[in-house]
Amino acid sequence: MPKQFWKGSALLAPVPAALVTCGSIEHPNVLTIGWTGIVCTRPPMTYISVRPERFSHDLIKESGEFVINLTTSAMCRITDFCGVRSGKDMNKIEKCGLHLSPAQKVSVPMIDECPVSLECKVTEAKPLGSHTMFLAEIVGIDVDEKYIDSKGKLNLQQCGLMAYAHGEYFALGRKLGDFGWSVRKKKKNRSK
Ligand SMILES: Cc1cc2nc3c(=O)[nH]c(=O)nc-3n(C[C@H](O)[C@H](O)[C@H](O)COP(=O)(O)O)c2cc1C
Repeated sequence: MPKQFWKGSALLAPVPAALVTCGSIEHPNVLTIGWTGIVCTRPPMTYISVRPERFSHDLIKESGEFVINLTTSAMCRITDFCGVRSGKDMNKIEKCGLHLSPAQKVSVPMIDECPVSLECKVTEAKPLGSHTMFLAEIVGIDVDEKYIDSKGKLNLQQCGLMAYAHGEYFALGRKLGDFGWSVRKKKKNRSK
């Protein structure tokens, strides 16, 4: 089948639907963010793109800090809610029954219910058009100990992470392989 050519748009999928916290422990806010990703490994850097009209936009701009909290299938309803209601009008954290804890390296709190939280410090706020891209260094990661095994390995597949694709939410499912498996030599069975 031939492919239809469409004009350029934001159709990259899947992307995370992360809960991003901003503000302070006294006056926190949370919003859902799909436009995020990793842009560098060393130093570890990420971005979030936020529309200037979002209540969170100026909170992030002023403090230069935010936390990206990874979301799970069990949190799908909360994730959607925090993406369609504004902190201008309500306390979404209370409304959703979320619990916050202080982070280590930033003054923005993290969400206890999320298995992994990325503490971020903004290095650049770049107005791009509809969105401002906040480029940021990931200065610390908080991982729920429940998912760390006795060898210190993080078992991320146990968290039940979710993803967002073209307006719909999906549970991450069956593992298909791991990094480099396509070229890895099979171990010889020495007992034969
Ligand atoms: C799945 C999903 C992804 C979203 N991604 C973004 C995003 O990347 N950038 C953005 O500015 N708004 C995004 N939004 C919309 C904001 O989360 C929404 O406008 C929210 O109400 C803003 O909250 P605030 O006014 O409290 O800051 C997304 C919403 C949903 C449901």
